[in-house]
Order: sequence, then structure tokens, then C-alpha cells
Amino acid sequence: MENPFKFGSVVEAQYFTDRRQERDYLLQILQSPNHAVLISPRRFGKSSLVQETLRTVRRPRISLNLQAVTSTTRLAEALLRRVFALYPYEKVRHYFSHFRLIPTFSVNPVTGTTEVSFHPDADSQIALEDVFDLLEKLGKNKRLIVILDEFQEILKIDRNLDRILRSIMQEQQNINYVLMGSQEDMMKKIFERKKSPFYHFGALIRLDKIPYEDFFRYLSDRFGKLPQVPDAAAVSDEILRITSCHPYYTQQLAFQTWYVALSGSDGDPVGLAAEQLVRMHDFDYERLWDGMNMTNRAVLMQLATSKSSPLGKRSQPTSTVFSALKRLIAAGIVIKLDSYEIDDPFFARWIRETLNSD
Ligand SMILES: Nc1ncnc2c1ncn2[C@@H]1O[C@H](COP(=O)(O)OP(=O)(O)OP(=O)(O)O)[C@@H](O)[C@H]1O
Ligand SMILES: [Mg+2]
Repeated sequence: MENPFKFGSVVEAQYFTDRRQERDYLLQILQSPNHAVLISPRRFGKSSLVQETLRTVRRPRISLNLQAVTSTTRLAEALLRRVFALYPYEKVRHYFSHFRLIPTFSVNPVTGTTEVSFHPDADSQIALEDVFDLLEKLGKNKRLIVILDEFQEILKIDRNLDRILRSIMQEQQNINYVLMGSQEDMMKKIFERKKSPFYHFGALIRLDKIPYEDFFRYLSDRFGKLPQVPDAAAVSDEILRITSCHPYYTQQLAFQTWYVALSGSDGDPVGLAAEQLVRMHDFDYERLWDGMNMTNRAVLMQLATSKSSPLGKRSQPTSTVFSALKRLIAAGIVIKLDSYEIDDPFFARWIRETLNSD
């Protein structure tokens, strides 16, 4: 029987669970002249949510991850490249007569993809304005959906890019933007600070972990089909206890548990699977740990071994602990939901085991 769990890439359809409310809300935004801002820590399912929501929407869309963009001009080029992936050159060529700066196009004869580049001395703001103007025109018949992932990168790509983008976007009528990001601090800075050009630009959707009941149903439905797992409910509960419902790690542990159960090993399949995952990443965890200063290590040890916050219940956080937590969050190692926690439950387990081995 095929392993029914999937982790690492975007999931939809039978791999996707719940998020009903978020999907309905996002759909409503996209069916109105509004924009959505999607925030969650890494691998909580932002891309999957957008993809699953759009599965039934027949509208053109352009998707770009800003992490791979290094300058304003590159941003303009990357967006144009996506236009050519969506429409044949012949269909859009007449729009270029309105461009103030004409880019160079070349078609790769093997892949058929169109390469685009602006002159190195081109005024990047003009190039960007022209491209966004083209997007606006393309959205005239059917409103275009433009998805920009890791949107907080605009603060690093170029000075004033936030201002420039905002002034372009606010004039547009034919585009719904979905702006996603996993650096919560920076996303908040962009969308929740009054002084920021993007203040209250769109409806904010914060993705949480998947509710226990939904994930439990999802897991037990699947494990129930495996004769090697006599108690699907117990197995599902144990998985969720270990991963505390983190979407990615739950799918990963479920996948591994299925594999262990099928291979007919004796013992508790979930415990064995978790152990295997810790071992599999042993090298990465060790390297990560080696590269950390003592404050980071102390904070992580405390998070790994106790349920209480390393900031203390009543006492004021020391500034050292606070800045260590900030660094760890920026690196995606710690996440802050109701309290601070280590993102990867297998790393937390590795830390506990390492501590106990002395
Ligand atoms: N609704 C869901 N149901 C089941 N599993 C999910 C769901 N959403 C996410 N996952 C799991 O989490 C993984 C990561 O999802 P996804 O890539 O959509 O997250 P992301 O927030 O876009 O991540 P990144 O920050 O890396 O871009 C998926 O591969 C899948 O295993
Ligand atoms: Mg993503």
C-alpha cells in the first residue's frame, strides 16, 4: 500500500487537511478587490493553503519567491519571466510598445523558456513600474493573482523598495496580491507599523498549527487502513504528542511510522520512527549545535527540557536571553506561538538525548 503521507513540498487534495476557515477567508478575499497577507513560521503550510484554495479558481496567477531576488531590476525581470510562462510571447508583445525601457528577450530553443534582461544601467524603478503596469493590464479581463513569497525580503533587496511597491500597488485595480512571509518580526514591521508604507495593506491571515482533532482524524483514517497497525488511534495520538501538531513534522513522523510498521519491526512503531528521524539528522543537528554560542545553547536546553518559558514566569527576561531568542527565531530554530518552542521536535529530542548521555 502506498505511503499516504507527504512532507517537504506543497500538499493539496488528499494530503491536505482542515484549514477550512482560512481557505474560505482567503477565497473571499480573492473574490473581492482585496489583498491577503499570510504569516506563519516556516513549513506551517502557507504555500499549501494558497495552492489548495486556488485549485478550483480558474484565474491567471503569477508566483514568485523573493528570497531568490537580489535587486529591483532582478525583481522586474523575474516577474516578466513569469508573464512569459503564462502567456505566449505573441500574445503580450504589443504591450511592450508602452514600456519606457525595453528589455532584451531571448528564447531558449531547448526549453522554450523566454529569458529577459534589462540593461545594467537601466533605471530600476522605471523597469519595475513598467512591469507592474503590464501585470495590471493583463488582469483586465480576469483579475490576476500575484503571489509573492518571503515578502519580508523587500526590506533587504533595495532601499525604498517598500515605498516604491506600495505606491505602484495602491493604484492597481486588476490584481489580488497574496503576500506571504515566514519572518514574523519583519512581516509585522511591514504590515502592522503605522509608519510603514504597507500598513494595513491587506487582510492578515496567521496560520497556526493544525487543530488536534482534525489532524487526529486525518492520521487515524489512514493508519486504520494498515493491518500492521492494530490501534490506529493510539498511534495517531502518539505522533501528535511528539510533534505537537506541527504540519510538516507530523507528516514526516507519520510517513516514517507507516514505513516502520510496514517493515514489520517489533516494538512501538512511533517510538522507532522518531528515533530513526533523530538519527537521520544527527549530523545536521551536531553541526548546528557546534556553531552556536553558549547563550543560544543554554536557551535551547531549557526549551528542550521544560515546558516553561526560558524568560521566566514573572521575572523580566534578561536582555541576553531575549536577544538569543530573537536570533533563534530569525534563524527558524525557535518559534513563538503561545510560548517559545523549538521548531523541530526531533532536534529537541536530540538535545535531550545529548544532555542525558553525559
Ligand atoms: N493543511 C495541511 N495538511 C496536512 N499537511 C500539511 C498541511 N499544510 C502543510 N502541511 C505539511 O507541511 C509541509 C509544508 O507545507 P508548505 O510548504 O505549504 O509550508 P510553507 O509554510 O509554505 O513552508 P515554507 O516556509 O518552507 O515556504 C507540507 O509538505 C506538508 O507535509
Ligand atoms: Mg512556502
